[in-house]
Amino acid sequence: MIYLKEVDSTNTYIKDHVDELDSFECVFTDTQTQGKGRIGHTWISEPKKNAAFSLLIKDKDIISKFNQISILTGLVVAEYLEMLGIQNVTLKWPNDVYVNGLKICGILLEGKLPDYVIIGIGVNVNQKSFEGLSATSIYNEMGTRLDTKLVASDIVDYLIMKLKNMTENLDKQDIEQFINKDYLAGSTVSFSYNGETKEGQALGINEDGSYKIKIDNKVLSINSSEINTIRKSN
Ligand code: BTN
Repeated sequence: MIYLKEVDSTNTYIKDHVDELDSFECVFTDTQTQGKGRIGHTWISEPKKNAAFSLLIKDKDIISKFNQISILTGLVVAEYLEMLGIQNVTLKWPNDVYVNGLKICGILLEGKLPDYVIIGIGVNVNQKSFEGLSATSIYNEMGTRLDTKLVASDIVDYLIMKLKNMTENLDKQDIEQFINKDYLAGSTVSFSYNGETKEGQALGINEDGSYKIKIDNKVLSINSSEINTIRKSN
């Protein structure tokens, strides 16, 4: 693991050094000055309070299963939080992690397919207040301060193990875990697809990590790379 005192963004750092870094190298900081979120948003996090880290993947076999990477990353974080004793952890497909409806972790996958994928993970660890944001932290849920580096290394070790054991499809246990935590399933959702706003019934994930939506009695399977935001309609 490469530890940086401060960096613009751990994802950007990896992108800038991608040729020098090996697969499974991880870059960690507790202070990002330009943390990136999905769809061009910024990831705001109080300096020194939280874990921001990115994992580089160069293995073609793993990269080819992009949907699965996305699901497994969220699952690994959710299982880690449960292991700490936190309850009511849910996953909004593909990989937003919530506790009691408040966001505790953001995940940003970037890369140049098929060459590399960067898995960026931001976990709220010791931050207490999140003005104007529907967010929470491990501290707020447990009342315990944790070492941000340790949180990151535990998650990364578990994630690497999961990625190395990946097969063609998600295994039954992972699908079951996701189903138990699925925040969208059963609700009416809307999302933008091929430039059009669509609305349908969220049915759940497929074995490859894509997500089933029922629209006008037809089932559409969407990939995480095709969708910016998916939200409950009501
Ligand atoms: C989201 O919008 O929910 C995704 C947020 C991802 C934040 C993490 S923090 C580590 C990595 N570096 C970044 O700049 N972003 C990701």
